[in-house]
Amino acid sequence: MSEIKQTFNSSLGKKLIMALTGLFLCTFIIVHLGGNLFLFKDDQGYGFNVYANFLTHFPPIKVVAYLLYACILVHALYGLVLTLKNRKARPVAYASQNKAPASWSSKNMGLLGSILFLFIVIHMGDFWYKYKFTHSVGYKEYRTDVLTNQTTVTDFVPVDPTFEHSSTTANDVEIVRVKDIHTLVSTSFHNVWYLILYVIAMGTLAFHLLHGFQSAFQTLGWTHRKYTPVVKFIGTWFFAVIIPAGFALMPIVYYFFR
Ligand code: HEM
Repeated sequence: MSEIKQTFNSSLGKKLIMALTGLFLCTFIIVHLGGNLFLFKDDQGYGFNVYANFLTHFPPIKVVAYLLYACILVHALYGLVLTLKNRKARPVAYASQNKAPASWSSKNMGLLGSILFLFIVIHMGDFWYKYKFTHSVGYKEYRTDVLTNQTTVTDFVPVDPTFEHSSTTANDVEIVRVKDIHTLVSTSFHNVWYLILYVIAMGTLAFHLLHGFQSAFQTLGWTHRKYTPVVKFIGTWFFAVIIPAGFALMPIVYYFFR
């Protein structure tokens, strides 16, 4: 037991934990971006609200969510410890290096990670906390005629204070009542400060993942003459370009076009 503890307390152990939690967070952002694509649908928030409701009430996802929060905290904490330790160990940069010069991203992972952590705290406070723990988010009722597929939407005020969601079908009309996180997201994205915050945060995410994704593979020793260029390609184009651009497009589209 003490050997395991020693391994995780060593610098290498911390780097391994950073790599594993980082790759888990990479998986999360793919899923998160995928689900958020409902925001681009012009359906009065139906898809997005039903998706958010599913995430909150499906038990296996609840378990994964706790693992996610733990990974965010451990990744941020170990990242901070390693950054401070590296700075103490090497206060002055080497005069000459015979290795390839470190990229701007790799030299600033601590700063990039701190900005991202701050963004995640603000982001979760705005959406996740309000959605789960306050009564500031209202409800919508979606009535869909199953024969014509026409949907009408109205505000819904539950009489029962413990009401969470419901889905019923009567006389060929499906009635879905869910919490309306879509209006909160939409209102936020019409605020220019949110637009600026999200665009800056997604720029930060891009540079963090540009180095972070491929670095995790290196730390875990998963390097290979044939596959490492593929990892670098995915890290650059998918994680550092497509994912941050996809997230940044959401506030941009809402601010300018919705
Ligand atoms: C502009 C794009 C984004 C939108 C519209 C968005 C929207 C949301 C919403 C509505 C929630 C609460 C939903 C719920 O709890 O079911 C949420 C949760 C969360 N978001 Fe985002 N998000 C965006 C980008 C990001 C990014 C880039 C990250 C990470 C770098 C992130 C990290 C999280 C985390 C960690 C949670 C809490 C996880 C959970 O339990 O659901 N989000 N997001």
